[in-house]
Amino acid sequence: MKLNYDYFYDWTKANLNINLDGYKEKQLQRRIASVMKNAGAVTLEDYSRKIQKDPAVKQQFLDYITINVTDFFRNQDIFEEFEKQMLVLSAEFPAMKIWSAACSTGAEAYSMAMILDKHKMRTSDKILATDIDDTILKRAKLGVYKTHEMKNVSATDRNSYFEEKEGNYHLKSNIKNNVQFKKHDLIADKFGKGFHIIVCRNVTIYFKNEVKEELYQKFSDSLVPGGLFFTGATEAIYSPEVYGLKKVSAFIYEKM
Ligand SMILES: C[S@@+](CC[C@H](N)C(=O)[O-])C[C@H]1O[C@@H](n2cnc3c(N)ncnc32)[C@H](O)[C@@H]1O
Repeated sequence: MKLNYDYFYDWTKANLNINLDGYKEKQLQRRIASVMKNAGAVTLEDYSRKIQKDPAVKQQFLDYITINVTDFFRNQDIFEEFEKQMLVLSAEFPAMKIWSAACSTGAEAYSMAMILDKHKMRTSDKILATDIDDTILKRAKLGVYKTHEMKNVSATDRNSYFEEKEGNYHLKSNIKNNVQFKKHDLIADKFGKGFHIIVCRNVTIYFKNEVKEELYQKFSDSLVPGGLFFTGATEAIYSPEVYGLKKVSAFIYEKM
């Protein structure tokens, strides 16, 4: 049976305030069909009724669509290179303004907060960390992680920045207090300005090419000249100069 995706996209826009138009179509539709089947629905009309009635079905849909996988210091080699670049940048800009876009559980923003603390680098304000998903933002604000989420955190960082309580790792307040979480939709919402670092990793892969290109331009416009844009390990920008960016190393770009 052919599923009525046009109906469903309109429905999610009107009822959940989520615009799915910018996401890669085939990939998204495969995910919707699969999560719909899990919920025991046969048509998208039926599925939308279930989402409306049952908060658990709604949450499962949101989790599935937004794909929250993340890690501290994700892709460690690349993150180490990013740490070096942060140090170079902080010599030029002693009080940096930093944004972790599509931050999921906050692991990426907190990784930067640990790096800042370790090297005594300063920021002009708290690190801004944003995501479209309210539920994940609540988790991020808590700053509590399970053992399997800590695999990239060194023993030294674990001891310095976390407290272990009943098998979970709680971030210490000096790190937690240096990150401010806010809801932000990369496709629909306005971007701030004057950033020295923007990290946006592992989310543009889900967007259509034209949306991705628009985002790269907007990120570039949000950076000060000399500022850095850090992408995911599968998100190399092939012609960075088109957006006023210059490749510094794999997945790290400088605003010209
Ligand atoms: C795979 S995670 C990436 C997390 C982190 N940046 C990393 O690389 O580890 C993708 C995140 O993008 C968020 N996301 C999806 N669509 C978004 C949108 N339109 N605006 C903002 N965030 C979005 C999801 O909620 C999810 O937390």
